[in-house]
Order: sequence, then C-alpha cells, then structure tokens
Amino acid sequence: MAAKNGAIKLVAGNSNPQLAAAIAAHLGTPLAQAVVRRFADMEIFVEIQENVRGSDVFILQSTSFPTNDHLMELLIITDALRRSSARRITAVIPYFGYARQDRKPGPRTPISAKLVANLITTAGADRVMTLDLHAGQIQGFFDIPTDNLYASPMMVRDIKERFDVGTVTIVSPDVGGVARARGLAKRINAPLAIVDKRRERAGESEVMNVIGEVQGRICILVDDIVDSGGTLVNAAEALIGQGANDVHAYITHGVLSGGAVARITGSKLKELVITDSIQPSESARGARNIRVLSVASLIGEAIGRTAAEESVSSLFD
Ligand code: R5P
Repeated sequence: MAAKNGAIKLVAGNSNPQLAAAIAAHLGTPLAQAVVRRFADMEIFVEIQENVRGSDVFILQSTSFPTNDHLMELLIITDALRRSSARRITAVIPYFGYARQDRKPGPRTPISAKLVANLITTAGADRVMTLDLHAGQIQGFFDIPTDNLYASPMMVRDIKERFDVGTVTIVSPDVGGVARARGLAKRINAPLAIVDKRRERAGESEVMNVIGEVQGRICILVDDIVDSGGTLVNAAEALIGQGANDVHAYITHGVLSGGAVARITGSKLKELVITDSIQPSESARGARNIRVLSVASLIGEAIGRTAAEESVSSLFD
C-alpha cells in the first residue's frame, strides 16, 4: 500500500506477531524485514533490514506482558527508524500498558502512564494509535497526535448477531466503567445496570450491590481490561445472585494474568469475549468460555486512512 506522500512500511515488535500478520494481510503490505533480538545479557537489539528513508512507518507493538520488555522493544525500534530517516513514525499500540497508572493514587507515587508517553515521544514517535485506552485523557499525556480507536462497534455487531437485544441489559462491573458501558448500551438501545463494590466497614468483606434491574435478563458485562478476572467473576456471581438468566462479558484487552483463565473457566460467566489486542495464550484460546474477536481489520483500516490522510474518527460514526 502507498501512503499519500510515499511508501508505507509496517514494522512488528515481538508482542503480537499474529495480529501484526493479520494487519499486514488486511493492508496487502508485507511486514518490513527487521530483526528484534536479544544479546546474551537480554539487552534488545534491533536492525531494520530494508530501506525506510522517507517512508510512512507504522510500528505494531502492544506493551503487554512482559510489559517492560515490549515497551523497551517499541522504544528501540522507534529509535532505529528515526535514525534511518523514516519520514513519519506511528507507534500502533493496540494495548497500552501502564494505562491504569494514570493518576497519583497517593502521596509520593508516580504517574507511570505519563512517563511512558514521554518515553515514546522522546524515542521519536510522531503519532500514536491505540485502542480503548483505559482513560481517554491519557491522549493528553502526549503532545503528538493520538488516535484512540474503539472496539465497541465490533462488539455491538457481535451482540446484535448473537442476542435478542430486547432481553439484554448492559452492565458495568464497577462504578469506574459506567461511561464505557453506557456508551455501548446506548448503541443497542439496552438498559444499563452497575455493580457497585463496597466495603461497609473496615475488616469486613466487600458487598456487591447491583444497581438496576437484572432479574430474568441476559446481562452483558462491558469493560476495557480483564486482568486477574476477579472483577468479572465477582460481578457475574452478584448478577446471578440477583436473578440474571445468563452473564456474558465483552472486554477489549485480555490481560489474563496468573490464574485468570482457570478462574474464568470455573466461573458463572457463560462467555467472555476478548479481542486480540494482546496475543491470547494457548490456554485462553482453548478455554471453553473464552472467544476472541480480531481487531486486525479495524487497526488495518485506521492505518490505511492515516497513511492516506483521511479521517479516522469517521470509522466510528
Ligand atoms: C479497572 O479499572 C479496569 O477497568 C478493570 O476493571 C480491571 O483492570 C480488571 O482487573 P481484574 O480482572 O484484575 O479484576
């Protein structure tokens, strides 16, 4: 594919080779020849093995587990491209790690999401493209253009294909996610419920209050991240306890740390739908109640439009 002002090049880090290959296939542009490898002491070494001078380059790299290694790969690839006279470098980061550290939770604590934004900019990125940022305001941590893509239109399509939307209630698994869940509920014209986790007294266990009517409903939990799975599994319990017929979940980023897959497999969740913003592990792919939707065409389309200097936001109209 050609950009408006020259060739487009795709360079993949090691975080998600399957998604990178699928994006390349969508664009009909092969991944650029590059090696990202380790020295004996695990330092990262990058060599771009084809000419990128004057090119519009898109680096495909989620800063997922192992986060620090993948972040460092992204920074070093960016540096290599900058020193190779790429015309424009876009860091395409489907999953933006450290996003949950977007404010000071207490005195003498860092704002790591801002630090990561500074590192990416300093390394030489001209633009950033990401997906379902934990908090939209993180775009403001960058002083370079940042496109935050949304998985919700894909999820809405999938929900409409699989459910009678008249029976569905969209649920936010915590108070922090209400805006995101409300947005999706609006798109399918479904009611909204909220799971409110509260510790009434210190030392007592948390009480899950469900705000909204879920009795006899198909509940669909919506969130940006599933990490340990605790939030989802507890919310599913609370909803079933309040008389929900079935509980499903649509979550953009399947971080799925530690025993998350086993926790979800053994839970009351009928199905968890994640995207491939983070490369799903074999156990996630094989789990009885986990399904993966690919964001390859969404990201490929956004890359194509960026290269052609066309609107990206109109993808979500
Ligand atoms: C938190 O604000 C996020 O939106 C998710 O709800 C959270 O990261 C999920 O974590 P876990 O799966 O470990 O409960």
